[in-house]
Amino acid sequence: MGKALTAIFPGSFDPMTNGHIDIVGRCLSTFDKIIIAVLSNPGKTTLFTVEERMSLLQKEFSAQKERVEVRSFSGLLVDFANEVKTSVIIRGLRAISDFDYEAQMALMNRSLGGVDTFFLMAREENSYVSSSIVRQVAALGGSVSRLVPAHVEQALKGKFAQASK
Ligand code: PNS
Repeated sequence: MGKALTAIFPGSFDPMTNGHIDIVGRCLSTFDKIIIAVLSNPGKTTLFTVEERMSLLQKEFSAQKERVEVRSFSGLLVDFANEVKTSVIIRGLRAISDFDYEAQMALMNRSLGGVDTFFLMAREENSYVSSSIVRQVAALGGSVSRLVPAHVEQALKGKFAQASK
C-alpha cells in the first residue's frame, strides 16, 4: 500500500475566501490529507486574530475533519513542514502578477528545506478574489457574498460593526 500523501496549504487566511475553499477541494482529489497552516505572525497586523482565522476555516471544513486539519504556525514554513513530516506545499495562483513572489518563496523553501511547492490555477471566477480585496470591500460596506461563504461575511460584518462603534 502507498504512503498517505499529505500536503500543507499555508497562508494568512485573513480571512479565508472562496478561492481558498476551491484550492482545498481540488487538492483533496489528489492528496489524502491537507494541513491548512495559518501564519501566526505577531509582527504583522491582521484583521482577524489567528484563533478567529482558524475557527472560520474549521467551521468551513468541519464535514471533512478527517482529511482537512487546521493548524497555526510561526517561524519558517519549512520547519513546520518538517514537524508535520511532509515535503509538499500547495499554493494557488491567480494571475501572472502572483508569479514573482510565489517563485521566490518556492525556490527559497526548496533551498532551505527541500520542500517542493505545487501550484494550482485558481478558477476563473476566483481570479480576482483576495483576502485584502475582501477586507477592503467589507470595510467600506460593500457586499462580499460572492467572494466568501456566509459565515465569513457575518464575521466581517461583526468586525466592522465593532470598529465603527
Ligand atoms: O496568504 P499569504 O499571506 O500569501 O501567505 C504567505 C505565507 C504564509 C505562505 C508566507 O509568508 C510564509 O510562508 N511565511 C512563513 C515564513 C517563511 O517561511 N518564509 C520563508 C519563505 S520565503
